[in-house]
Amino acid sequence: MSKIRSVGILTSGGDAPGMNAAIRAVTRASIFAGFKVYGIYRGYRGLITDEIEEFSTQNVSNIIQRGGTILKTARCKEFQTAEGRQAAYDVLKRHEIDALVVIGGDGSLTGARIFGNEYSFPIVGLPGTIDNDLYGTDSTIGYDTALNTIMECVDKIRDTATSHERLFFIEVMGRDAGFLALNGAIASGAEAAIIPEISTKADQLADLIESGFRKSKNSSIVLVAESPITGGAMGLAERVKNEFPDYDVRVTILGHLQRGGSPTAFDRIIASRMGAAAVDALLDDQRNVMIGIKNDEIVYVPFTKAIKNEKPINHELLSTLRRLSI
Ligand code: F6P
Repeated sequence: MSKIRSVGILTSGGDAPGMNAAIRAVTRASIFAGFKVYGIYRGYRGLITDEIEEFSTQNVSNIIQRGGTILKTARCKEFQTAEGRQAAYDVLKRHEIDALVVIGGDGSLTGARIFGNEYSFPIVGLPGTIDNDLYGTDSTIGYDTALNTIMECVDKIRDTATSHERLFFIEVMGRDAGFLALNGAIASGAEAAIIPEISTKADQLADLIESGFRKSKNSSIVLVAESPITGGAMGLAERVKNEFPDYDVRVTILGHLQRGGSPTAFDRIIASRMGAAAVDALLDDQRNVMIGIKNDEIVYVPFTKAIKNEKPINHELLSTLRRLSI
């Protein structure tokens, strides 16, 4: 039997659409299980500075459709220090919170892993990031919405690209991962995706130009994953201007609009399922695990596996993109 009586919830790192649906699910499933629930504002920073409020079911009413996070979020340097984590532990003890659900990406779950081990504190993580770069889950919360946002933006850029017969490099987020760029390219019918996963093995730009990718077309769209490894859209455009001056090149950096907006049905559903599963995991005395969904089944992924365990790119997607862009 679990000894847990009260659960704290926080969101940390970059926000992602669907985080609110996850907060709602954890809150309601916890109350259903008989736990007290505390909302912790501004991620680990709010944990250290004691920005905590007891939540009832009403605190999470009418939020499933909202982007962002009602708990706010932050990137907290102090939690990376032993003193910061001690202060956080003291606050948790003071509120008699005996488990945490942390919703965030790689950095947030790394913090959770360290803290959970240091204080033997039960923590369950939910993968909340548009980057989809956590190992052990097919999709992270927010990824599908960001992908749809990218697709809508590229559809619009295509109109002007076609009218002016231009080559567009469109830079998308993803930190060190190319999932948004690769699947965004397939969904929007782009000519190519330049992603960090294969940038060290090939000069993707030269390959693209040499393949004569514009022979049958008068405009082209290339999605570029933000990363020093790809050179980013600006870097590639500069190269094209110097090496292939015949092309009329433009750059669009989609930026933070990719993180906003109402979550898709898919993100709301996985966030709800994962949130409820986090409470099941606590009831089951699981700790230091991230909830994932693999082949439509809930799975528990140890933090050590989920984090920094390179999630591979599916090479079938690359081949499909290449074949469909002729
Ligand atoms: O991890 C999510 C993410 O949006 C990345 O794709 C991006 O590199 C980063 O966060 C941007 O962070 P910030 O909003 O702090 O600039």
